[in-house]
Amino acid sequence: MRAEKITVQDVGKSYNTRHGPVMALDGITFSVAEGEFLCILGPSGCGKTTLLRILAGLEKEFSGWVEVRAAGSQKPINAMVFQENSVFPWMTVFDNVAYGLRMRRVPRELQRTVVQRYLELTGLAAFSRNYPHQLSGGMRQRVSVARAFANDPEILLLDEPFGALDEQNRLLLQQELLRIWELDRKTAVFITHSIDEAIGLGDRILVMTARPGRIKAILPIDLPRPRELVQIKGQPAFVALYQNIWKLLSEEVLRAREKEILPLALAEPGTKDDLYEKTISRG
Ligand SMILES: Nc1ncnc2c1ncn2[C@@H]1O[C@H](COP(=O)(O)OP(=O)(O)OP(=O)(O)O)[C@@H](O)[C@H]1O
Ligand SMILES: [Mg+2]
Repeated sequence: MRAEKITVQDVGKSYNTRHGPVMALDGITFSVAEGEFLCILGPSGCGKTTLLRILAGLEKEFSGWVEVRAAGSQKPINAMVFQENSVFPWMTVFDNVAYGLRMRRVPRELQRTVVQRYLELTGLAAFSRNYPHQLSGGMRQRVSVARAFANDPEILLLDEPFGALDEQNRLLLQQELLRIWELDRKTAVFITHSIDEAIGLGDRILVMTARPGRIKAILPIDLPRPRELVQIKGQPAFVALYQNIWKLLSEEVLRAREKEILPLALAEPGTKDDLYEKTISRG
């Protein structure tokens, strides 16, 4: 048994809105082992980002208990990769990737070596002097991934990092991520809407229910590593897992739609959050 790196015990979170509290998470308990890659799947609005922000220490008001066991080194506790647009537009690719190292006052020479290494691993070496607006969306996400790895955190937190990419770019970035992750197998929590992606990348998959987000199932992925993402898709273990997860997830997506979005969406237009608030206020 590997040591527990992250422990989450009975975590709950509700947001205060104009119409009273909205419960985003309820009774979330799980752990992530040292070196494990955990993927989280769940319907839109079920509290995935909220959960990741709690793990990152960005969201401090919640009930329950969260512990990330640091090794006591100089490393930062976590680094986060967001869905999109999380690179600094006024910095070059190089400076973006070096950002965390510079903040920690890592010696210049070491900064250069580390940044160069991750630029090469993510195929960005030729673009180090470019600015984000000169890059494609996929390349900008590579910068985010390179920055997170270069910072060498204790744990990696990724919130749908490839969600905005087209399928081919997504596949390429998944493969790159796996290749880099294989080098030192850092503990990772990866949120996605894609069942394919979760099975391809993860050691286990945590499936969440519709809001309030609870844990519906935690499934192990018995596919050997290193993985060739295109090849594993045809394997019986992949297909069986896919069908199992689709059954679990589709129940939740339908439940979420029936419960709150559809009747209101037909009644009057509004944003997703407005709709939730209206549901709450109408009881
Ligand atoms: N700052 C906030 N104030 C009020 N409600 C919020 C706030 N942030 C999130 N929520 C609500 O909490 C619930 C969970 O939001 P969260 O962003 O964590 O979901 P998610 O699973 O990441 O969704 P998605 O898959 O669409 O990214 C939603 O109902 C959302 O509207
Ligand atoms: Mg989210």
